[in-house]
Parts: sequence; structure tokens; C-alpha cells
Amino acid sequence: MLVYLNGDWIPADSARVSVFDRGFIFGDSVYEVIPVYGHRTFREAAHLARLKASMAAVGMDERLGPVHWPTVCTRLAETLPAGDGTLYLQVTRGAAPRQHAFPANAPLTLFAYARPRVSEPAGSAASEMTAVLCDDIRWARCDIKTTSLIANVLLVQEALRRGADEALLVRDGLVNEGAVSNVFAVCGERLRTAPRNHLILGGITRDVVLELAAGLGIAVEERAPSQAELSGAREVLITSSSREVAAVTRIDGRPVGDGRPGPVFHRLHAAFETFKEEVRMGRRM
Ligand code: PDD
Repeated sequence: MLVYLNGDWIPADSARVSVFDRGFIFGDSVYEVIPVYGHRTFREAAHLARLKASMAAVGMDERLGPVHWPTVCTRLAETLPAGDGTLYLQVTRGAAPRQHAFPANAPLTLFAYARPRVSEPAGSAASEMTAVLCDDIRWARCDIKTTSLIANVLLVQEALRRGADEALLVRDGLVNEGAVSNVFAVCGERLRTAPRNHLILGGITRDVVLELAAGLGIAVEERAPSQAELSGAREVLITSSSREVAAVTRIDGRPVGDGRPGPVFHRLHAAFETFKEEVRMGRRM
């Protein structure tokens, strides 16, 4: 497998980054995950705009790492054997003697690779998952897609330890998002999800689902559900580039609604599958 590193295309096992790289030393680094369907990237412009926004938010100077990401993405997407997968892009503040302050002129480290989508065995419920509620122990700039993910790592591990797939994060009594996903809840007649602010990562899949919901005439409210509202929700969904749209059927071991994926999930999931097909055909981005 060839990876992109600082302008070169090299086999993954011979790609090298300095031990003084600030991504390694400080987690001083931002990233993106871009889905690919049929060798075509999904919402690439939005993902690249978010990468730019993350870089700007942490004061990374783009001039220190000139790269034409669309070209890199196209080339990586072409390498995926079955056409479906995800692209991983990472930018660090480069290698420099360890001190917290930004180095004066260190070139950014630019890294990207493609990962094939692991196809689920036929008949498995890939779109169904379980979750637990956890205190949101992350910092207050969750809108920046940084690789400083230790809190998310611990939260996912806690979910696994408790026999679940995802941690839904509670801050001040509100469920803002998951450790690796955005969260939606069907409360009464409305689909509720946290607003885009510094407490969530503004998910690209979330945006697509909001567009699909509008097209389907599903009423949406961008207001985070409280923990109690989530517990009483008829349906709970999560969205992300890797999980796409999934139904959460149990939270803390208790069934959500009747414990099976509900009608709102089925409609949105079907619409998302259609959207993916159109991306595959090159009819949508
Ligand atoms: N994570 N919220 C968090 C905390 C996330 O880590 C992610 C995605 C999302 C969903 O964003 P999007 O729909 O743009 O993928 C929300 C990626 C997939 C990851 O870290 O692997």
C-alpha cells in the first residue's frame, strides 16, 4: 500500500516521521476521515473545508505545508481495491525541539492513506448498535478535528468494557454527541440533534442526514436532548463517516423504544443508501 507523506508516495512500511514530530509529542495535529464509494469521495469539499477550519482554529500556517488535497484524494481513492473505503488525512505542526510554543518555521507534516471498507458479513446488523451514557470528559473545543483523542479513546474503551459499541456523551445534563459519532433522537414527532457549536464535531454525515430529513419531510430541531429525553426517545441514531447511519437499540442495557431500529431510522438509512449509490455513479458528491 502506498501512502502520501510530505509530497512523496511511499510504501506504508517504509514511511517515516520524526520522533520529534509535534503530532507524536503533543498531539499537535488535525485530521479528516473521508468516505469513498465506488472510487469517488463523499462530500470531499466539505471535508477539506473542515480540515482547513481545524488548521485555522489551531493556528497552523498552510504556507508551511503546501499540498493540493483534491489530487491526493483522487489518487488515494483510485487505489481502493473494491472502490469503497475511507481516506485518512493528517496534518501536524511538524518536527521541532520540544517546547510548547509554536516552532518558527517547521514545515507541517502531511500524511494520508486509504483504507478499504470492511464489508460486513451478509445478514449481520451492521446498522444496529448499542451505547452507554458517559460523562463528556473532553475539552471545550470539540469542533476542532484534532488527533488529540485520548478522551475519546478512553470513552470508547469504557463503552466496550460495558459491552456496548459507542459512548454517548453527557455534559451539563445534555447529550451532545458520541465519542466517535453525532447523535440524533426521535423525541415526540421531531428528530433532535445538538446544534453545531464548540461542544460537538460538526459531522459531515450529520449534515447529509439533516438534508435527507428535510427532503423526507421529517421535522428536525437542532437542540441537544437531555439525558432524560434520550432515555424516553422512541429512536436514537448515530452518524459518522465510518458508521454511516446506525440505529442505537439499547442504551445502558435498556431498549430504546421497542429495542429494534424504528421507522425514522429505516427512512433515513434508505435515503442514505440511495445517496451513496448516486455518489458511486458520479451523480452526486
Ligand atoms: N469520527 N463526532 C466525533 C467526536 C467524531 O469523531 C466523528 C467522526 C463524528 C462524525 O463526523 P463525520 O460524520 O464527519 O465523520 C462526530 C471519525 C469518523 C473518526 O475519528 O474516525
